[in-house]
Amino acid sequence: MLSVVVGGFFGDEGKGKVVAYLALNDEVNAAVRVGSVNAGHTVIWGGKEFKLRIIPSAFVNGGCKLYIGAGSLVRLDVFFREVTTLGVAGRVFVDKNAGIIEDKHVETEARDEYLRNSIGSTLQGVGAAMVDRVMRRLKLARDFPELSTYLVDLVDELWRILDSGGNVLVEGTQGTYLSLYHGTYPYVTSRDTTASGILSEVGLGPKHVDEVILVFKSYVTRVGSGPLPGELPLEEVINRGWLEKASVTGRMRRAAPFDYNLARRAVILNSATQAALTCLDKVFPPSARVREWGKLPPEAKRWVEDLEDSIGIPVTLIGTGDDVTHMIDRRKDLGVMR
Ligand code: IMP
Ligand code: MG
Repeated sequence: MLSVVVGGFFGDEGKGKVVAYLALNDEVNAAVRVGSVNAGHTVIWGGKEFKLRIIPSAFVNGGCKLYIGAGSLVRLDVFFREVTTLGVAGRVFVDKNAGIIEDKHVETEARDEYLRNSIGSTLQGVGAAMVDRVMRRLKLARDFPELSTYLVDLVDELWRILDSGGNVLVEGTQGTYLSLYHGTYPYVTSRDTTASGILSEVGLGPKHVDEVILVFKSYVTRVGSGPLPGELPLEEVINRGWLEKASVTGRMRRAAPFDYNLARRAVILNSATQAALTCLDKVFPPSARVREWGKLPPEAKRWVEDLEDSIGIPVTLIGTGDDVTHMIDRRKDLGVMR
């Protein structure tokens, strides 16, 4: 069984929390993270906050093998720091073909006025490394002796796990509208963030996929430049309790109410089979920390049901608070539990 988790808006939808929830509640044997260190995933679990830039958020499940895909771009300092902090050595592996970001890539971006001022890049060297990759001069994981004990042929490994009936979770990064191809170009990141791009980075074809879980926040946020339909003035963002700080750069996130047009298009772009909704408590405060559908306030339920009608797929998971366990899981009730 293969599930892909993908962001439905501009990143920061809460994919980290959704992946961590799935890893703790389903029998997940392997999790793969794609993308790069410009994307931060936050997991709050048991009173601790983890900010992950390269290790899969599924690390919370100690029995889950953790992988970084061939299409990923890794910074060695970030990788080794997270491996140590999270204590995941021995169960984390890197595809031998993953790309490596070097200091020169970070320096190149630091000097780039266009990236900094016009695009609002996180300046983590990701785009510059991608340029080198396209020009076929980027060094790969297999070129670094310090990574030798971590290297695998990920396609081989995943194929073995899937073939023996195991469960694999693929964790996308950023969001649909930051896609280099399908987003708000040029205000996008340096990769295709949609489900197809994610699969390509891992090395699995579309026919292997069982579920594509599209994650939406109950409102829309965006950090950096580019269009944000319905953007609210800062004062209103603060009033609604929607002000957030970006996890990698610390910048303030811009915010807007939930966007049904973007959501419907994201369902198509990702061939999503189910949606996960996060931060429902930020729109309906009485739903805070609720874990059962039946205990949600009626107006919150109606809002979710109207959303399902609008996007045409079931909302199976609903986040109602910061902790991984603040989640309503409707999969059994809706008959989509495997
Ligand atoms: P870059 O990919 O770091 O060059 O950034 C390009 C654009 O994508 C900027 O607007 C960033 O703020 C945005 N971006 C990149 N990664 C993330 C992310 O993980 N979450 C939200 N926005 C991101
Ligand atoms: Mg993030």
